[in-house]
Amino acid sequence: MTTHAFPTSSFLFGGDYNPEQWPREVWAEDMELMRRAGVNTTTIGVFSWALLEPREGEYDTGWLDEVIDALDAAGVSFFLATPTASPPPWLTRAHPDALPVRPDGSRVLHGSRDTYAISSPAYRDAARRVARMLADRYGHHPRLRGWHVHNEYGTIDHGPHAAAAFRRWLQQRYGNLEALNDAWYTAFWSQHYGEWEDILPPMQTQYLHNPAQVVDFKRFCSDEMLAAYSEQVAEIRDAGSAAPVTTNLMLPTWNHLDQWRWAEQQDLISIDHYLDTTGPDGETHVAYAGDLTRSWAGGPWLLMEQNAVGIREGDRTYVKDPDRMIRNSLGYIARGSQGSLFFQWRASAAGAESWHGALVPHAGPESRGFEATVALGRMLEQIAEVAEPPAEGPLIETEVGIVWDANGWWSLETPHLPNESLDYSAEVRATHRSLWRAGIAAEFVRPDADASRYRVLAVPSLFAMDDATVAWLEDYVRSGGHLVVGAFSGIADEHQRVVLGGYPGRIRELLGVRVEEIWPLAPGETVTLSDGSTVEEWTERMTLTGAQELAAYASGDLAGLPAIARHAVGTGRSTYLSARLRQDARDDFWSRLCAAEGITPEVPDAVGTGLEVVRRRGANGDYVFCLHHGDQVLTVTGPGHDLLTDRPTDGGLVIQPGGVAVVRTSPGTTWRVHAG
Ligand code: GLA
Repeated sequence: MTTHAFPTSSFLFGGDYNPEQWPREVWAEDMELMRRAGVNTTTIGVFSWALLEPREGEYDTGWLDEVIDALDAAGVSFFLATPTASPPPWLTRAHPDALPVRPDGSRVLHGSRDTYAISSPAYRDAARRVARMLADRYGHHPRLRGWHVHNEYGTIDHGPHAAAAFRRWLQQRYGNLEALNDAWYTAFWSQHYGEWEDILPPMQTQYLHNPAQVVDFKRFCSDEMLAAYSEQVAEIRDAGSAAPVTTNLMLPTWNHLDQWRWAEQQDLISIDHYLDTTGPDGETHVAYAGDLTRSWAGGPWLLMEQNAVGIREGDRTYVKDPDRMIRNSLGYIARGSQGSLFFQWRASAAGAESWHGALVPHAGPESRGFEATVALGRMLEQIAEVAEPPAEGPLIETEVGIVWDANGWWSLETPHLPNESLDYSAEVRATHRSLWRAGIAAEFVRPDADASRYRVLAVPSLFAMDDATVAWLEDYVRSGGHLVVGAFSGIADEHQRVVLGGYPGRIRELLGVRVEEIWPLAPGETVTLSDGSTVEEWTERMTLTGAQELAAYASGDLAGLPAIARHAVGTGRSTYLSARLRQDARDDFWSRLCAAEGITPEVPDAVGTGLEVVRRRGANGDYVFCLHHGDQVLTVTGPGHDLLTDRPTDGGLVIQPGGVAVVRTSPGTTWRVHAG
């Protein structure tokens, strides 16, 4: 990643700009409104392929020149997208094989967007050509902030091109069919492969899929999309454009990509993030997205898209209050985003997403929504100094790491596990949520990364582990770390082959336990532990082979048997939770564990008040972000200066419900909060 990918004197503010939907007089108003709101960045051309290349090989860039000239005159920079997420109708007509195929063999037809078969040579060639054309034409433009390649990679193809590419990928991975048959355990159900040509993507089939095939196909799709991305990057670089390149990852509901590997290939990491609930848990969602992306990036990153005024939950779009939009925007920034960009600048008058929120809503600039846009722009100017990252060290100090692994998610989605309600992403998020509620800063860790700086390393339900991951966890514990492992971790190798002799076979000795049976609870059933915790969904019949019991099952069929155990290994220790703690019990567990480890919240008396406090380090000091999600007036006191009110905070700074503060302070300062 290039460290100069972001300006250091300001935050990026703006969003997707799609003026091709509007007549020229609206463009003029756009420029005026952008100036009024302090917009400095747009993303253009995301879905413009059909306009940029109306016929194969024939380009029409006149309108884009005009857009760029208008932005330039208004002093607004741009990310230029390559439009390859939305192939134009002519491509489909000329190359029907460039359309994706579903698992049932049916071909998805034109009529929406993202209708591309990632392995189709015709699609890949056309994508490279249009990227090259744009790079040749605009790659040196002084207002080019960066390249936004494609959009949210994630269309999965099961067609003949994908099948052929999958086989090539498997040949590379396994070398020969014998190794593949062994890894995929094809002796079961007569699946033994004698010819490579017989291997297919996991298509619609009679009963359960082969789990190893399912996970390998996920890995392949991620690699295949990354190859397509890299081809476009190569064209951009070949054209001599030195601007940073990114693609917007969709978070956290999509699990199509191995984000750690993708992160290595990008100059800056960007995500799109949409709240999934109107309730208070939306705030933990923002923190989760921010921490995850900062971890992938290893530093600053960029919120490429969010919704200014709407929260989509189920089949309706609820209104997002201006206060919340501002709090969320600062929440991402507190956790490392170098800006707040939105989908989109102006709400479309028609089309499939005309009811999606925007910085300029349907009501126009005379609206609460646009006032909030202007207010946010002003705030980002007031806190501009925060944008400069520290010369060294992390943006946020953390002592707790949470292992995140796309393979872990994929492997827990394979069919017919003993209790399919166990959801990898929900487990990771539940752990993060507990830490958030305890006011403890956390980040995510790639298996195999240097984990020595974490006093505690959490491994939520990592079902499959390869040899390197096992060795890495052992090393972490032996060197003095505290490893906390969630139920159903370390059961299988990377091919989903269960390690025999008692679960969790991969890390049985490290944990000092032996599990003989998995005991799912019925939906809604709960069991109590001896420490008063409530568990749901998942329990295990476990014996201790070296570990000490921390809590036992106190009710249910396993009453009297150990439920949580701790094992001393080397200079460190491991804790194993054989049960799925309900969220309240999980919150208690993590808050007690962190206290015992001496890991403290930034502001202990903020915990439980609804005030989220995040300390982001900068070149000129630390910045304490106070985001008040609660409903009580609070006063924050500590040595510093609030950049938003331009007032010292030593004598106390009152924060209203829904309000925010961004306080410049020194490293090591302590803060207090009280009601009123
Ligand atoms: C994503 C896409 C946008 C738009 C929004 C709607 O972020 O990139 O094009 O569809 O979702 O939420």
